[in-house]
Amino acid sequence: MRVLSLIRSRFAPILATWLTEPEALASALERIVASRESHLADYQANVAMPLQKKLEKPPLAIAEEILSKLDLSDICSSVSIAGQGYVNLRLSPEWLAKCLMEAHLDPERLAVGLAANPKTYVIDFSSPNVAKPMHVGHIRSTVIGDSVTKILRFLGHSVISDNHLGDWGTQFGMIIYGYKNFRDDVAFGQAPVLELSRIYRVVQKIIGFQDAVSNIPKLELAMERAEEKSAESKFKSAAAPQDKKLAKDFATAFKQLDEANDELAKSKKYIEETSRDAEFLECSKQHSQLGQRVLKETSKLHSGDAENLKLWEAFVPNCKEEIHSVYKRLNIQFDHEFGESYYHDLLPAVVEDLLARSLAVQSDGAICVFLDGYDAPMIVRKQDGAFLYSTTDIATAIFREREFAPDVSLYVVDHRQGEHFQKLFDVLRKIGLSHTELKHVEFGTVCGKDGKPYKTRSGAVVGLNAMLDEAVSGAWDVVCNPDRLQGSGLAFSEAEKRQIAETVGLGAIKYADLCHNRTSNYIFDMEKMVQLHGNTAAYIQYSYARTRSILRKAQAEGFETNQWQLAPLVLSASPEVNLGLQLLRFEDMLNQSMVDYLPNVVTEYLFDTAKLFSSFYDQCSVLDAETPESTRSRLRLTDLTSLTLRKGLELLGIGVVERM
Ligand code: ARG
Repeated sequence: MRVLSLIRSRFAPILATWLTEPEALASALERIVASRESHLADYQANVAMPLQKKLEKPPLAIAEEILSKLDLSDICSSVSIAGQGYVNLRLSPEWLAKCLMEAHLDPERLAVGLAANPKTYVIDFSSPNVAKPMHVGHIRSTVIGDSVTKILRFLGHSVISDNHLGDWGTQFGMIIYGYKNFRDDVAFGQAPVLELSRIYRVVQKIIGFQDAVSNIPKLELAMERAEEKSAESKFKSAAAPQDKKLAKDFATAFKQLDEANDELAKSKKYIEETSRDAEFLECSKQHSQLGQRVLKETSKLHSGDAENLKLWEAFVPNCKEEIHSVYKRLNIQFDHEFGESYYHDLLPAVVEDLLARSLAVQSDGAICVFLDGYDAPMIVRKQDGAFLYSTTDIATAIFREREFAPDVSLYVVDHRQGEHFQKLFDVLRKIGLSHTELKHVEFGTVCGKDGKPYKTRSGAVVGLNAMLDEAVSGAWDVVCNPDRLQGSGLAFSEAEKRQIAETVGLGAIKYADLCHNRTSNYIFDMEKMVQLHGNTAAYIQYSYARTRSILRKAQAEGFETNQWQLAPLVLSASPEVNLGLQLLRFEDMLNQSMVDYLPNVVTEYLFDTAKLFSSFYDQCSVLDAETPESTRSRLRLTDLTSLTLRKGLELLGIGVVERM
């Protein structure tokens, strides 16, 4: 039920007499919200106060005028003015019950309507670089993208999902070079994926070391500059001790010097420690300038070199096998998985076209698009003729436009690529893709407890499959431990336990990620995320299982399902009303969550629903209610809660179990 838009539609004609501009009217209507303070109101309209200036009247008088014209008698039991001019609304329990019964009669959709103006979305998510194993950093794009896809589809939009695999970039140059130089044939024969990822790490380590060494002079220079600046600043500030700006400049310069010092020291320490491994040092010498060698392998691949192409063709299925095993386990599907390589042949034409339109120009031998507001241009072809990530993204957008003509194109990608996408969108608008709304659905970093990007104790970035195993075993310990089972009188077969642990463990990983606002970083805490209490998947899943157990118990006590399926819903005690109001908000909440593609709006809703259900069940007897009618009504409310929790979790890609 879209309660908000219904209420807003009643206010709209009244406000429209004062607010003639559509945007002004729309933003005034936005101020009509579900109330957070349930003891005051169910819904609240803060529309009078902002009109005070315009109408030159006290807000109270405006609110009274609104009230005299407002007709909500079919929906509300009371409409009143509070404070400076808030309009407080209470829904009538009968209308609330009627809406909830409608939702209950539609268990699949819970009476959630389909979008009046459905849009076509293309959503680019997950998109890992396949030459290296997926790690915890990939979880965010994957689960956020999957749940946005599911919610938009549920709301009636057409969504085309595309996993834009990095299957053509420098990483392949790395494993091709590594395969030619560092492979262990036996290991490759036994487990190609493992061997390729080992090879990848060898190459990565050498490149990292060589880069650090060659970067030292730059860091030293930066340090010298920072020293000079700091000294100069100090001198200036000492000459004019009253000048606050100079003092601030000095503080900044000093901080920069400190940072430069730190970076240089860190880099030197890393080089020194790494150099202690004589074998590694020798290897690095033998493969000097490895970054360049890798680029050469990559560009040979791109220009159709038979040997490299053959290796690439052999490696890609191995690499994909690894990531597909993760998707399978997480139950994530894509409509397409074209990948970067798919666009390779289109890249020369993209560059030619940009040149022909004079959008791109030659600069130092490279082809660049200069954009207002950025220091560096977007390079679309390097001096050596190689195309870049950006070039592929332009080609991809043109292809998607031709194939799918999306209204909205979403890129669920790490926030660190923000500038890349801003530049890309600028270029795409310049070449005429202006009717598509382009949006970088960015997200923050997954951090360890130390606040730094999540790594294992050994320092390696954690592989996703291993992490999923860890979550499942953590869930087993929490949910299926013998003490708990004995205490709660639950008995599960081994197979059931495995299924519960898998559902709870995978749910924990997804939920922990989704429940943080995607734009912020979050701390990955395995122990916390599998807990049965707090804002966790397990708590919601447990609440669902509890609703199911109540309904099972009712059946065991002789209530036929159809007795509550069609029973009149009567909401009188306040915990029932509060739970009912929450269930009524399901559709509004889903729409709200897609305004800025925030799945955490859904997790918050589910957490609140579970808590409201718990207070309802604690305070209102269900099976021992005063009358059989009341029992049936409460069973029906329990059933609707059950369906809502399940649907909400389903839209996040999280499963449920019937008992836990
Ligand atoms: N493969 C890229 C990476 O791992 C992400 C790709 C995102 N999608 C895109 N169209 N650029 O950084």
